Amino acid sequence: MSYAGSRNGNAMQLGLFMPNCSYGYSISTYKPDPNDWTFESNLRIARAAEAAGFDFLFPVAKWQGYGGETDYLGTSLETFTWASALLANTTTINIFSTVHVPVFHPVATAKMGATLDHIGNGRWGLNIVSGWSEHEFGMMGIEVIAHEERYRRTEAYIEILKGLWTQEPGSFNYECPWYTITGGNVLPQPMHKPHPIIANAGVSEDAKALVSKQCDWAFISPPSVAEAPAVVADIKERARKLDRNVQCACYPFVLWRDSESEAQEERQRIVENMDRVAVDNWASGLKIQSGSFDKFTAEMYAFGGGALPLVGSKTQVAESLRELYDGGMDGFLMVMLDYYQDTIRFEQEILPLLKQMGVRA
Ligand SMILES: Cc1cc2nc3c(=O)[nH]c(=O)nc-3n(C[C@H](O)[C@H](O)[C@H](O)COP(=O)(O)O)c2cc1C
Repeated sequence: MSYAGSRNGNAMQLGLFMPNCSYGYSISTYKPDPNDWTFESNLRIARAAEAAGFDFLFPVAKWQGYGGETDYLGTSLETFTWASALLANTTTINIFSTVHVPVFHPVATAKMGATLDHIGNGRWGLNIVSGWSEHEFGMMGIEVIAHEERYRRTEAYIEILKGLWTQEPGSFNYECPWYTITGGNVLPQPMHKPHPIIANAGVSEDAKALVSKQCDWAFISPPSVAEAPAVVADIKERARKLDRNVQCACYPFVLWRDSESEAQEERQRIVENMDRVAVDNWASGLKIQSGSFDKFTAEMYAFGGGALPLVGSKTQVAESLRELYDGGMDGFLMVMLDYYQDTIRFEQEILPLLKQMGVRA
């Protein structure tokens, strides 16, 4: 399946990494609108993104915050119910939910997803994450299983979703160490054929193997603009060997001002107001030795939660997006400092440049 997820025939797909969680996404007390996580604000941003012609909206699924002064991501809107209301209040933009495999049974996910796809008239997509946080899963009494097994389970989960969404209702059977499905039945089936877009957000070898085999989109996190083409080429080559197409998207933090130095000053304000307690908690959750990681790493996490920094003038940001796109990146889940204002500014200041460059219609 080759699903562009785009509108208006655009090749470069533009989306927002939405602030459905508090302090999304810099681990810093410097935030122009600390209440942008509210539904009212998310809806306002979604409508602005739709009016700007963006292709998709994407949330983060979180069950616990990271403490500190910000309690980073600690207040969050659950992503299926969030998508439901946004789909009902928009008309063209694609909207994702994110599922943690161990939290929802695949039949429940298939059913909720089919419902969302009907509410959105075929505009819903699913990001499937294996889950890694002992803090979050510990709260639920769910064990975080070993990495490789985690991904084998995620693969089974995707096979079950596809079976429920595409096979004759009532006829789908599946047996694996984690699930037994007998006469699997999901009615209505989703509107988007053959099934809603399926994405995975992971960075490991296991994740790359999974996306190339099972997913439509890989949401990836390349270390730099220069290194992105190799990461993309690797995933696309793996998929091509399996006679499949996978599209790749990364999450850049787009921060632009009239001059590069003004943009760098803004970046500096974010970093100077880093919530070090939350950064340490975040890093130790990722199994990075928080006591030993250096200033550079701490600042990288503080600035957009590890997003790829695209900081400069509007021309520099547009050129970096084009460079990533020319290197094979199909889409962008953009992180912003002030989502509502920046979406409008992006439409006015950066989109025209991307159009001049011929990468957006
Ligand atoms: C763009 C992007 C979005 C992600 N969204 C979530 C999320 O919503 N919830 C979550 O628990 N993990 C999320 N993750 C974490 C990944 O699922 C994954 O566990 C992490 O990147 C480590 O990669 P690995 O599982 O391949 O080792 C996201 C990662 C990326 C790159």
